Amino acid sequence: MGKEIISLDDIKKLVDTFYDKVRKDSLLAPIFNKVIQDDWQKHLDKMYTFWQTLLLGEHTYYGSPFPPHANLPIAEEHFNRWLDLFFSTIDENFEGEKAAEAKWRASRIAEVFQHKINT
Ligand code: HEM
Repeated sequence: MGKEIISLDDIKKLVDTFYDKVRKDSLLAPIFNKVIQDDWQKHLDKMYTFWQTLLLGEHTYYGSPFPPHANLPIAEEHFNRWLDLFFSTIDENFEGEKAAEAKWRASRIAEVFQHKINT
């Protein structure tokens, strides 16, 4: 059981907890670390703005989400693991409408990314 996602602090908790899991995951960590190296805080800061924009409607992200993924060595198993970790982060910490929306949006974006990678 958790709380509703209503503030930027909630978004930061979501993002920090999720990427903590990613960084401990033997399948995903090497892929992230190769690109991000010592710049994790920069990546986290960007991801705060991404989810703040999607979930809170506070427009702070102005990037293009897909291009950095185009040439990563990722396929279905990586997306499935990414979604597993994201869903468990949500379920362990949050509840309510925005929590459900976060899972829904992550799933849709993962689908679009996979489709683009495979074309
Ligand atoms: C950026 C990895 C799935 C959203 C990145 C970066 C990496 C990465 C390495 C670049 C960080 C940098 O350049 O500093 C992955 C892997 C995934 C995955 C390995 C799955 C196996 C997703 C999904 C979403 C997402 C499903 C959305 C729900 C983003 C966003 C950025 C990003 C918004 C920043 C783009 C920008 O530079 O503006 N990801 N990602 N990623 N990722 Fe992912």
